[in-house]
Amino acid sequence: MPDLVPVILLGVGNVGRALVRQIIDLRELHAHRLRTRFDLVAVADSDGAIFEPAGFSDATLETLLSYKAGGGKFRQHELGYDQGDLTGLVDVAGDDGAIVVDLSASAATIPALESALDRGYGVVTANKLPLAADLLTWQRLTDHRRMRWEATVGAGLPVIITLHNLLDTGDEVQRIEGALSGTLGYLSSELEKGTLFSVAVREAKACGYTEPDPRQDLGGLDAARKALILARMLGYPLELADVEVESLYPADMDSLSVAEFLAALPALDEMYAARTAQARADGKRLRYVAEVGGGQARVGLQPLAPGNRVAQVSSSDSIVVFHTARYSDNPLVVSGRGAGAVNTAAGVLSDMMALV
Ligand SMILES: NC(=O)c1ccc[n+]([C@@H]2O[C@H](COP(=O)([O-])OP(=O)(O)OC[C@H]3O[C@@H](n4cnc5c(N)ncnc54)[C@H](OP(=O)(O)O)[C@@H]3O)[C@@H](O)[C@H]2O)c1
Repeated sequence: MPDLVPVILLGVGNVGRALVRQIIDLRELHAHRLRTRFDLVAVADSDGAIFEPAGFSDATLETLLSYKAGGGKFRQHELGYDQGDLTGLVDVAGDDGAIVVDLSASAATIPALESALDRGYGVVTANKLPLAADLLTWQRLTDHRRMRWEATVGAGLPVIITLHNLLDTGDEVQRIEGALSGTLGYLSSELEKGTLFSVAVREAKACGYTEPDPRQDLGGLDAARKALILARMLGYPLELADVEVESLYPADMDSLSVAEFLAALPALDEMYAARTAQARADGKRLRYVAEVGGGQARVGLQPLAPGNRVAQVSSSDSIVVFHTARYSDNPLVVSGRGAGAVNTAAGVLSDMMALV
């Protein structure tokens, strides 16, 4: 009989649903390779949670997947915790060996994650917000050995485990550079092809590559949070405000509605066309780059020599290049598809498997 591992899932959007799908579909593999059965006992969304101490059956999970894919909300909250009280939910639903999985996009999960770790449970997060919160929260969360966050940088790519391995084996990591945003990677290669900035942003939005409000991607904060996580792993005592972030639109466009913002974008076309032309004239390629090194972190648009590994990555992929004492001549590179619900869920699942 496989060991039952109780799982409490916070957030059941695109990645959460992909994870539940993988848990159901990989039952045999998990029983065979790990003698484990991930037993979902509680699932929370932004409105409430459902809880089944004996674990939800796969048939119930299928219903849950359809319900959430159709935009349904959980409202059940009479089980000893208040609606929205995720710490109460973890307290009620947790058990020995439990794993709390944060696939929300909210910092409201932080107290629940801390409580789970204090109780000795495992915590896996793809949600960057808790790890990009203040330094004290970072320390409180990552001081625990049962905290894992592979999918926060590069989705399913083995970025975090590679960095852990380098640090744990005493390598000296001097610098990390990378392209960490599929959306901004897409935009920079469209600019390179000669597409107008405003057209490229509208196309990216139409294809679903951006958030409904594209400023959330264009502002660079998501890439900055990833750079901050890597920097903190190197021991740099940085806050998010210390990360130098180049936003791809001016701050005065923040006050506009989404429609007004999209309508105003052509005003930026000339400037981006000039930057792209200058990069081309210098024999370089424009890329939105994250750089971590020398105690600092920054993200922004940079002209890169064509031989630079970050310049070579295909538009929607991610790449992380580790320059270390051991990998001095030829850096250690992790690259590939660095986004998408299925790949992200696989990164989360790999953390869950490592915990058991
Ligand atoms: N998609 C990717 O390619 C990718 C890659 C790497 C990392 N990530 C990260 O993975 C996380 C999930 O991404 P996603 O694409 O699945 O997002 P999503 O589709 O927006 O889903 C977010 C889920 O979190 C729930 N939620 C929001 N606030 C909550 C709260 N306070 N308590 C409990 N649940 C809450 C939402 O509830 P409702 O269902 O009620 O709205 C929803 O179910 C995000 O943090 C994202 O940054 C995503």
